[in-house]
Amino acid sequence: MSYLFIRILLTHFILVILLSPTHSEENKEFLLRFSHVAAPQSHKNKGAIMFKELAEKYTEGRVRVEIYPNSQLYKDKEELEALQLGAVEMLAPSLSKFAPLGIKSFEIFDIPFLFRNLNDLSKITEGPIGKDLLDQLKEREIIGLAYWNNGFKILSANKPLINPDDVLGLKMRIQSSRVIEQQMLELGAIPQVMAFSEAYQALSSGVVDGTENTLANMYNQKMYEVQSYATLTFHGFLGYAVIINKKFWLSLPVNIRESLLSALSEATQVANNSAIQENEESLEMMKKKGPTKFHEPSLEEKIAWEKSLKKVKEKISHRIDPTLIKRMQETLENPSP
Ligand code: LMR
Repeated sequence: MSYLFIRILLTHFILVILLSPTHSEENKEFLLRFSHVAAPQSHKNKGAIMFKELAEKYTEGRVRVEIYPNSQLYKDKEELEALQLGAVEMLAPSLSKFAPLGIKSFEIFDIPFLFRNLNDLSKITEGPIGKDLLDQLKEREIIGLAYWNNGFKILSANKPLINPDDVLGLKMRIQSSRVIEQQMLELGAIPQVMAFSEAYQALSSGVVDGTENTLANMYNQKMYEVQSYATLTFHGFLGYAVIINKKFWLSLPVNIRESLLSALSEATQVANNSAIQENEESLEMMKKKGPTKFHEPSLEEKIAWEKSLKKVKEKISHRIDPTLIKRMQETLENPSP
C-alpha cells in the first residue's frame, strides 16, 4: 500500500466520522425561546412551563426551552415580528392579533356571540377549520401548532354598564382586531388599540375609560384595581395559537419534532384546564378584593347586548371569507361533538 493511498483512506475515514449523522445531527442541541405577554401566574404560563418540562424530558435535553412571560422581551406586535425574524422561536399570541400579519381570517374568532361555550370552540379548533386556519400562517414563515383557550370576555369601565347604551362615548382599550373595533363602534364607543402590557396604565391614568377582557386577564393584570364596574356579558372569545418559527421548525430532526408535538399536546390540556379554573377563581378573588362591582345581566339585558352587536358579522364580512363564516356556522349547528 502506498503512502498516498493510506493518507486518502485516513482522510476519508475522518470525514465519514465528522459528517456522520451520529456526530453532527444526532447530538445537536436546540434552544427554543418561548415569549409571551401574560403574567407568570397565568394559565398561559402554566401551559408554557408544562411544555418546557415535557419538551426537555421527551427530547432527553436536546431541546432547551427558555420562557419569557409578561412582555419582558416583546410586546404584542413586536413579538410577532421577533418570531418571524427568528429572535425568538415560539409564541402564544391571542387569535385577535394575527390580522396585522395579513391573516385576517383569525378575526372570525372575535365575532361576538358566535360561540356559546368552549364545546363550540373545540368543534372549530380541534377540527378541519382550525387546521386550515393554522395552515394559512405558513405563508408568513410561521407554523401553527396548537390552540389554547383563555375564555369569554366581559366589559369593564368606571361607570355601570347595564345596557349597551351605557358604553356610548367611552374610550375602550381593544386588541388589534378590526372585528373587535367594529364591535365597539356598534356600541357607540371609541376603540383604542393598545398593547396588553399598557392596558393597566392607560386605565389607571384615564387614557381609556374601559376595556374588555377575560376574568383571568382582568385579575392577573390587576385591572380590577382601576375599574369600578364590570358586566358579565361573556360576549366574545379570547384564545391563543401556539406558533413556531417555520425555519427553526423545519431545521429540527423529525424525532425531535414528534417529541415536541407530544409535549405540546399534554401542555395544551394543562393550559386549557388551568384557564377554566383561573377564570372561575379570578371572579371570586376580585369580588373579595374589590373595588370592582360585577353585574350579572338579566335575560332581557343579555338579549339587548346580543341585539346591539348583531350587525358586526355583516359589517366585517368583507374582511373574512364568507364561505369560512358559513362553514363555521354549519359546524357549530352540527350537534355532533
Ligand atoms: C390582550 O391583549 O388583551 C390579550 O390578548 C392578552 C393575552 O395574551 O391574554
